[in-house]
Amino acid sequence: MAQKISFLNIKGGVGKTSLLVNMGACLAYMGRRVLIVDFDAQSNASIWLMRLDRWNGLNKTPEKFLLNLFKDPSAKMSDCIQRSPIRDTDGDEMLPRLDLAPASFTLMDLEHEVPQIENKPFYRRFYEALSEVEDDYDFILFDCPPNFFYTTQCALFASDHVLVPSNPDALSIIGFHLLVDKLARFKTDTETQRLSAGSPSPEIVGIALNAVKPGTKIHVPLERFNSQIDRFKTQGKVSEKTHIYPDLVRHSVTVGRAVMLGIPTVLMSKQDASINLAEDYIKLTKHLLEQLGDAEAEA
Ligand SMILES: Nc1ncnc2c1ncn2[C@@H]1O[C@H](COP(=O)(O)OP(=O)(O)O)[C@@H](O)[C@H]1O
Ligand SMILES: [Mg+2]
Repeated sequence: MAQKISFLNIKGGVGKTSLLVNMGACLAYMGRRVLIVDFDAQSNASIWLMRLDRWNGLNKTPEKFLLNLFKDPSAKMSDCIQRSPIRDTDGDEMLPRLDLAPASFTLMDLEHEVPQIENKPFYRRFYEALSEVEDDYDFILFDCPPNFFYTTQCALFASDHVLVPSNPDALSIIGFHLLVDKLARFKTDTETQRLSAGSPSPEIVGIALNAVKPGTKIHVPLERFNSQIDRFKTQGKVSEKTHIYPDLVRHSVTVGRAVMLGIPTVLMSKQDASINLAEDYIKLTKHLLEQLGDAEAEA
């Protein structure tokens, strides 16, 4: 069964999408079968992986997007999946083990314009739909918006783990407090549904520090983050496995260039990548694999 991970932080612009796209690509590169589910209506991961022209074209068939799962009870998860969306300029597949369930801007309609079915919250509907394809993947990664609205709830209800991309600054540390409280509240509120569906109870596995500029005095925010995590552990609010990942992702314009090229950093040529940022993502991914007990973590 797939390991399911929500990339979540209630702060925007911290690197959720770029970490997810790059770590997802690293996992596929290392031989794992990966599904990226884009639950952010901004559709950044979808546009990055499909490139704007193909994503624009797909918008003519709304039934191929996640929103349709909630509008049409007979819709299937497999109808919302783009196989191997990363293509080279000739249209050939570049990373065959990585698939995408894309978002469109209309995903935001889920908040107010799609009626809920009684006794079946959206997250339960999504959890059941996802089971159709779960065995096809080793990892399913959810790109979440910076809030706790319906799509984040769908991701969390299905997830075993939560990975928190963060920047090493004071506002991110404050935001982490809110995230921990909201997650605990969500788990309590959905307990009955979780027990009857047999869905996992998501735990924060780690905080991945992103876009760290050279010369940043990282030890000060690290100490603050660590003492907050220790306090949450004592209060039983996070699990013993929650920790800050030792490998940081450096700040680099390479990330923006990868978006322009429509490929993850790990697939960029040496000329396009100004520094070998891919190494940072590979280290993080290996750490995640080890933490999750993936037998071939060193692959
Ligand atoms: N390591 C990095 N170095 C420099 N810029 C980065 C890095 N990671 C992300 N960015 C940039 O920061 C912005 C926000 O990143 P993104 O992954 O979209 O965050 P989020 O999904 O949390 O909103 C984007 O413009 C992205 O290109
Ligand atoms: Mg994002």
